[in-house]
Amino acid sequence: SVTRHYKFNVVMRNKTRVCATKSIVTVNGKFPGPTLYAREDDTIIVKVVNHVQENVTIHWHGVRQLRTGWSDGPAYITQCPIQTGQSYIYNFSLTGQRGTLLWHAHVNWLRAIVHGAIVILPKRGIPYPFPKPDKEEIIVLGEWWKSDVEAVINQAMQLGQPPNVSDAHTINGLPGPAPNCSSTGYTLHVESGKTYLLRIVSAALNEELFFKIAAHQLTIVEVDATYTKPFRTDTIFIGPGQTTTAILTADQVAGKYLIAVSPFMDTTVATDNQTATGVVRYKSTAAFSPTNLTTIPPRNATPVTNSFADSLRSLNSKEYPVNVPLSIDHSLLFAIGVGVNPCATCLNGSRVVAAINNVSFVLPSTPLLQAHYYGISGVYTEDFPGTPLMPFNYTGTPPTNIQTTNGTEVYKLAFNSTVQIVFQGTSIIAPESHPTHLHGFNFYVVGKGLGNFDPKNDPQKFNLVDPVERNTVSVPTAGWTAIRFRADNPGVWFLHCHLEVHTTWGLKMAFVVENGLGPNESILPPPSDLPKC
Ligand code: C2O
Repeated sequence: SVTRHYKFNVVMRNKTRVCATKSIVTVNGKFPGPTLYAREDDTIIVKVVNHVQENVTIHWHGVRQLRTGWSDGPAYITQCPIQTGQSYIYNFSLTGQRGTLLWHAHVNWLRAIVHGAIVILPKRGIPYPFPKPDKEEIIVLGEWWKSDVEAVINQAMQLGQPPNVSDAHTINGLPGPAPNCSSTGYTLHVESGKTYLLRIVSAALNEELFFKIAAHQLTIVEVDATYTKPFRTDTIFIGPGQTTTAILTADQVAGKYLIAVSPFMDTTVATDNQTATGVVRYKSTAAFSPTNLTTIPPRNATPVTNSFADSLRSLNSKEYPVNVPLSIDHSLLFAIGVGVNPCATCLNGSRVVAAINNVSFVLPSTPLLQAHYYGISGVYTEDFPGTPLMPFNYTGTPPTNIQTTNGTEVYKLAFNSTVQIVFQGTSIIAPESHPTHLHGFNFYVVGKGLGNFDPKNDPQKFNLVDPVERNTVSVPTAGWTAIRFRADNPGVWFLHCHLEVHTTWGLKMAFVVENGLGPNESILPPPSDLPKC
């Protein structure tokens, strides 16, 4: 393993999309930002220098950060933001990890535009557990607003209402071709008979997405930097923060084939309905040849999302075994949802909130990790409820207990204890699924279902043999998802819905994992350049 150095200069740049130019925060002038390349077990050192007026932090989404929580990145959870003119060096190892991940800003809504891919190749001399493709391609999916993104959420918070949806979805930063402003969309150039490893990263802000290529099947081989049993599909379902790596075989002779990226939301509320399009273009295809089209899954294609999720299995080979905890120390039930609370300062007297077990999480002004490490009291309380405070019943109509309390509450875990969390979607005002992300760990997705979780019968059906391992999982509309992990990483670890608007509304909490007793079981000391608030 080697140490790789990167420099992230955070600078403003003008970018033109959907017929309008705006000045945005970028890393090294790029949108999407630069890709980090490394191999398993390498050490990464990234010096981030903030040359813009806004506060910045960077999160390495899915990197375990074993004992190095200081480099995890979420503002006010593990660090103070990097202010104008300041810099901070993130230093972490990719121990036992290989595959595709993403990095993104983790303060306010900055990740909408500040994000990029992380590619972790296997160790030198170790092959992929699938036939080596002829070429690799990174595909970053995103969303674009014509207006300033922070203004979008600030206005929504003042009104107490959902924010405006984006003006376009993007593939590698490009919306589909727009005839009026002579922009071209993304093109993937292929040669007939060759294979392509597509490393698909969703950096979308508030939408889960479908990804499809006309007349081609995709073979899924990895999600969230863990290998899966290969399976073929014509549609990928991917939530914000998730990654999916698929093999595309260029099995047509020639021509152009549409790439379609369209949103999923299991509801009828009005939305943008934007589909980003690109093209797979075979070599020696005539310029005027028409693009072969494909059908796009409807916005409410829940069966497509379910069958994709159900097909995901861990590879579970000798080299990549499954280690799902079989006995559980902490059995948690997290009811997650969106509701409405009274709000004196809001225009309508009420505002939309989101909560876990009726607690809407409030970010502190001292980072939780610092408070934990130095024993600073008064920053958080340790009473985050492990089960809902009130009984609730999802039967298709809104439950009654939608009032929430505000708090900065954490849940404490002993080092190396085993944890099961059942996330219960409650579908309070809009039926939406929640791509839920846990920092500091991978977890196994052992079960999922519709309606209320049944603690007696559902666990009997858990997959403890080859459950998929990930860092972000979709909790289905009006249903539940169960995960298991071992708390083998001391520190403070954020858990939140990766639909950024839900995070803003309070759908977040944190775990504190105590130090263990062994020599390599404590948080490392903070780096000397750790930003101050
Ligand atoms: Cu990718 Cu806490 O986020």
